[in-house]
Amino acid sequence: MERIREAGEGDLEPLAGLVAQAWPEDGWSRRSLAAALTVPGARARVAVDAADRLCGFVLARRVADLLEIDLVGVAVAWRRRGVARRLLVALLAEEASGLGEARLELAAGNAPARALYEGLGFVVVGRRSRYYPGGDDALLLSWPAPASTT
Ligand SMILES: CC(C)(COP(=O)(O)OP(=O)(O)OC[C@H]1O[C@@H](n2cnc3c(N)ncnc32)[C@H](O)[C@@H]1OP(=O)(O)O)[C@@H](O)C(=O)NCCC(=O)NCCS
Repeated sequence: MERIREAGEGDLEPLAGLVAQAWPEDGWSRRSLAAALTVPGARARVAVDAADRLCGFVLARRVADLLEIDLVGVAVAWRRRGVARRLLVALLAEEASGLGEARLELAAGNAPARALYEGLGFVVVGRRSRYYPGGDDALLLSWPAPASTT
């Protein structure tokens, strides 16, 4: 992977391909992906190789002091080489000014993603039982860890 840059309309096709690879059963439609690039507060970043080919992406949305991370995906050939970590570290750094919380939701059974986020300091703050169509629970993760009330 060579660099991280903002995603644009021209990234839609490769993004859709990568989403279909990462979520073969229930990926986002092309329309929702296009919306995710243009919605107010959209924060869409792609990691590309030297030829500007897509290695991975993060789609998020900033609303006031909240950053909602919607999707993170890395092409199979690029996995386990630090692409997702670099995308998230860069995003959190870029959004640091005025940021109160970053949060996201993931399937409880998604061990790689959970390890990725917990390694960055996200903590599980909630669980929605049987949230996904397959019956898996959803975990709600937050960064930084909420201040202790004790
Ligand atoms: C989850 C995903 C984004 C990780 O991307 P990646 O670029 O391979 O992750 P990184 O190389 O940056 O890994 C960072 C850390 O995450 C954890 N991790 C990543 N993949 C892992 C795996 N297969 N098993 C266990 N831990 C894993 C590790 O702690 C890793 O650190 P380490 O390599 O130093 O041990 C990627 O596997 C993917 O696209 N999966 C399908 C889509 C998805 O589930 N997205 C997340 C929910 S939105």
